[in-house]
Amino acid sequence: MNILVVLAVAIVFGLLRFRRAGLLAWAGAWWVGVYVLLRFGFSAPIPASVVSLYMGIVSIALLAYVSSSEERRDEVSRPLVRFMTEKRYTALLGATVLAIPALAAANVYVRMNVPLEPPLFSRTVHPASPSEITVHDKKIDLDTAENPFLRLERTNPGEFRTHVENGRRIYYRNCVFCHGDDLSGNGMFVHGLDPIPTNFTDGTIAGLRDSFLVWRISKGGPGLPEEGGPWDSAMPAWEKLLKEEEMWEAILFLYDYTGQKPRAREETAHQ
Ligand code: HEC
Repeated sequence: MNILVVLAVAIVFGLLRFRRAGLLAWAGAWWVGVYVLLRFGFSAPIPASVVSLYMGIVSIALLAYVSSSEERRDEVSRPLVRFMTEKRYTALLGATVLAIPALAAANVYVRMNVPLEPPLFSRTVHPASPSEITVHDKKIDLDTAENPFLRLERTNPGEFRTHVENGRRIYYRNCVFCHGDDLSGNGMFVHGLDPIPTNFTDGTIAGLRDSFLVWRISKGGPGLPEEGGPWDSAMPAWEKLLKEEEMWEAILFLYDYTGQKPRAREETAHQ
């Protein structure tokens, strides 16, 4: 509760009592008082629809009360009739008659004038990785780490193919649901996901170090840094399910299948 607002309403009610206000003033004061309390009296904002609902109930209750007896009806209508018929109020009456539609128009104008831009929502797709991660109690230095199987491509092509094949199996067992069976990021879960899974065929991963991928695969969405959020990535932290080797094999497969090469370490050193 916002004590200052409650206090202000209480003081106004006290003043009305002190001045022996008429029934009409009381009805108006109750209506405005309840509105002010609902709108500004609580520190958590109350939805506009709820406020309208309450104000509807309050209006009906006040109407029922002031019309419940002959005297009350008289007491409320007397000042109104006087206001509308007596000569000295003519100017005020004219102003009121003009003010009501003018206020309604101003309200519509203010509401329509809200700029129609979507709220800003941006996300750093490739935030800076930490310099070191721990996967299965083993530290991996992301600045120097490279796929341990990559050099086999030259030294032992047969063994290299075995690891690519392992990677392929890992991919189609775990990753295909999101990243798609052709690796283009259109797996069957895609429609429920925002951000959508990465497309590995569009050249993005050729611009990334393979150590960056091992960070993203092992730590997933939960491992993304705070800054640059909002992070609501569905990418799982695969260190819970895969061995470090298996993650490297999956990376091997990603590059092999798409015919790309990870960005070399020398390149980063110069930038
Ligand atoms: C539940 C869905 C889901 C599964 C399953 C999944 N991913 Fe992802 N992945 C995502 C989403 C969504 C993103 C994009 C958001 C992000 O960067 O975290 C992503 C991002 C990535 C990235 C980061 C790419 C970049 O450009 O930074 C890599 C690498 C990756 N996934 C690899 C994998 C691998 C390998 C597997 C299987 C072992 C896998 N993913 C399984 C949803 C998934």
